[in-house]
Amino acid sequence: MTGRFITLEGGDGAGKTTQAELLTAWLEERGRTVVRTREPGGTDLGVRIREIVLHERGHVAPRAEALLYAADRAHHVETLVRPAIARGDVVLQDRYIDSSVAYQGVARGLGAEQIRSLSEWAADGLAPDLTILLDLDVAVGRARVAAARGDTFDRLESEAEAFHETVRQAFLDMAAAEPRRFLVVDAGASAPEVQRAIRSAVGPLVGIDEG
Ligand code: TMP
Repeated sequence: MTGRFITLEGGDGAGKTTQAELLTAWLEERGRTVVRTREPGGTDLGVRIREIVLHERGHVAPRAEALLYAADRAHHVETLVRPAIARGDVVLQDRYIDSSVAYQGVARGLGAEQIRSLSEWAADGLAPDLTILLDLDVAVGRARVAAARGDTFDRLESEAEAFHETVRQAFLDMAAAEPRRFLVVDAGASAPEVQRAIRSAVGPLVGIDEG
């Protein structure tokens, strides 16, 4: 089988985890081997980087933050993602380069182009076959996170609403610029409806034809 690399993007509370779980079950029932992973934190080293980047107390310089995400990505892509794709697996990944561009490049103001080229260098050029953007109203997403976790936000989640509005718009702009790579789904719809839209894009990519 041909390996595939599918990424999920979107703000906090958009339902990436739920949708990844549903999609994994659907693909596995149809005989595909799925590697579910995430950034930051998809490897043992990445778990330690994730702890720093999301839970460090006090100030973290924005460029340091960008490099921590890039370091996590470099190790993850080389040791886990590329080998899985080479084996013919479907890699289903929560967040990738587009998150760095949206959060560090645009919302932190480090520059979308610079962060994209840093990230692509870190990943040695590995691009997703498909990126699913779960687009959701920021206030709705934040309310979902608060309801699920009782108001304990990590470093990035604690940023003001305007930061997250900027992130949302940055994702939408990237999707508009690369319509062939992106599937934009209204994450305000019900979970089964969102999943239906995702399956209709993933099916043809992985050779599943259910009419
Ligand atoms: P999550 O795994 O709960 O989505 O948390 C990851 C957080 O890190 C989320 O707030 C988005 C942020 N992030 C970045 O700022 N840049 C990145 O490159 C990635 C992968 C995530």
